[in-house]
Amino acid sequence: VMKNPTPSQYVWISLLFVVVLKCATAVTHYSIPEEMEEGSAVANLAADLGLDVKTLVERRMRLELIANRKYLDVNRETGELYVVERIDRESLCPAKTSCFLKMEAIIENPKRIFYIELEITDINDNAPHFRRDTVDLDISEATQPGERFSVSNAVDPDVGSNSVKTYHLSESDYFTIEIQTGRDGSKFADLILKKGLNREEQASHHLILTATDGGMPSRSGTASIIVHVLDTNDNAPTFERESYQVSILENSPIGSLVFQLNATDLDEGSNSEVIYSFSLYTSEKTQETFHLNPVTGEITVKEVLNYEHFRVYDMEVIATDKGTKSLSGQCKLKILVEDMNDNHPELSIKSFQSPVSEDIKLDTVIAVVSVSDKDSGENGIVDLHIPDDMPFKLRKSSDNYYELVVSEALDREKVPEYDITFTVTDRGSPPLSDNETMTLELLDVNDNVPQFPKSFYTIRVMENNAPGALLESLSAFDPDLHENQYLVYVIIEKEIANTSMSMLFSINPEDGKLHALKTFDYEIEKEFLFHIEARDSGSPPLSSNVIQTARRQPVRF
Ligand SMILES: *[C@@H]1O[C@H](CO)[C@@H](O)[C@H](O)[C@H]1NC(C)=O
Ligand SMILES: *[C@@H]1O[C@H](CO)[C@@H](O)[C@H](O)[C@H]1NC(C)=O
Ligand SMILES: *[C@@H]1O[C@H](CO)[C@@H](O)[C@H](O)[C@H]1NC(C)=O
Repeated sequence: VMKNPTPSQYVWISLLFVVVLKCATAVTHYSIPEEMEEGSAVANLAADLGLDVKTLVERRMRLELIANRKYLDVNRETGELYVVERIDRESLCPAKTSCFLKMEAIIENPKRIFYIELEITDINDNAPHFRRDTVDLDISEATQPGERFSVSNAVDPDVGSNSVKTYHLSESDYFTIEIQTGRDGSKFADLILKKGLNREEQASHHLILTATDGGMPSRSGTASIIVHVLDTNDNAPTFERESYQVSILENSPIGSLVFQLNATDLDEGSNSEVIYSFSLYTSEKTQETFHLNPVTGEITVKEVLNYEHFRVYDMEVIATDKGTKSLSGQCKLKILVEDMNDNHPELSIKSFQSPVSEDIKLDTVIAVVSVSDKDSGENGIVDLHIPDDMPFKLRKSSDNYYELVVSEALDREKVPEYDITFTVTDRGSPPLSDNETMTLELLDVNDNVPQFPKSFYTIRVMENNAPGALLESLSAFDPDLHENQYLVYVIIEKEIANTSMSMLFSINPEDGKLHALKTFDYEIEKEFLFHIEARDSGSPPLSSNVIQTARRQPVRF
């Protein structure tokens, strides 16, 4: 808006009047800019119309505006046409490029009417402004560069060079504008995509569109344009890694979580929702053993795993998004079944020799035992033991085979048989074991001589004894068995004064009962000394080589 006009402006306003000769009624033209201060002089009508200023009051000069408010009046004292009310061109002549106020200056005595046309020229008193100051645009990321989009245009009620002249767009790598001129000369801007959008990189773009008019100085208005990039299914689901390897303990309960797969898709909405499935590469057996949750990607145990049957499962999982043109990604998963110490070691007696003779030689092999364990690693390593206090030892003969050998001399008379417990133990934690007991019987060998409880017997016999009287029961003992133990008692012959002992005494060979065969006369014979032998029935019998010690019992009467 123009303030009080300075003298120079007043000159610039300077009247421009045209007398149209052709018409009977001449029209006087003036031109002023809009927005002049109230009281500002427009022209001197008296001078311009050739009237005597002194007569204006008397002739009651007045001004009438045709079909308009009284924006102007005339000063009867000076003949000046002046502004009564500020004139806004835009409200007076909306949407018009030229704007005129028509009026009549009337004087009486005689009555004359002068036609005056006042042109109101535009000043740049309005800034461009956008009909909508925020524009939201949805643009698919699949849109090709070069595509155009209409945005809000700016309007400026001013006319000519004071109206919208150009547009500017804030700095952007993706958008530019192209300024178009409408049929009515108005300027508007098309938004043009200059580079492909990528929602996954930048989901929205904030742009500022500025409209500038051509006034001096120019004025401007802005609108913000928010571009929302619409997703297209241009990203496939991806797994963090191409392949995974996990271990799971055999015998894990059904339903145990083995692995959590996770594929991510950079798109949004259903374009990023993923469904998991096994690929054809995944064997039936694997699919029967493991369950894949299509929604969560969790792999769980479906059937009990047995390390001894199957140790490695390979699978390939496909993640497919739910976009219209769905995309997919895949990964491989190797599941290793870990051994658990779930198998008892086994032992098997391959041969066992029983009974054996008690005089068996040291180092003789009595038994062959094989051991095994289906587990692997430490769980499958086994050790075989027998109790420590036995006269045997184990000797490893080959992988998984042991021999039981005699390590100390055996004596049936001390230990007639051995219950040998073989215990096989694996090295798992906790260890598992198995045992088997065999009984080893010893066969007797005639290795014990019969023994009398005493080495010397003195038997008192009354003289005049009855012939055949029992003198004594002699009994020796032999710890051997059977015939090695069956004893025979005999009197060792020794001549006494041409008399054979067997003529004087007899002994029952089976029970050792000693009888007198005749009556003794104390006066003739006071004492007899002889030997009795106990002999076992072994083969060879034992007795002769112990004559000096116990076999012969001198019996004194
Ligand atoms: C999958 O990975 C994404 C991104 O790393 C993460 O936000 C999400 O929680 C993961 N989902 C599961 C189930 O682990
Ligand atoms: C042998 O095995 C049985 C059960 O199999 C067990 O009760 C016993 O204690 C074991 N004996 C030894 C000596 O390990
Ligand atoms: C024993 O008998 C033999 C002959 O038979 C005889 O010569 C000897 O004198 C006898 N001795 C005694 C002690 O009677």
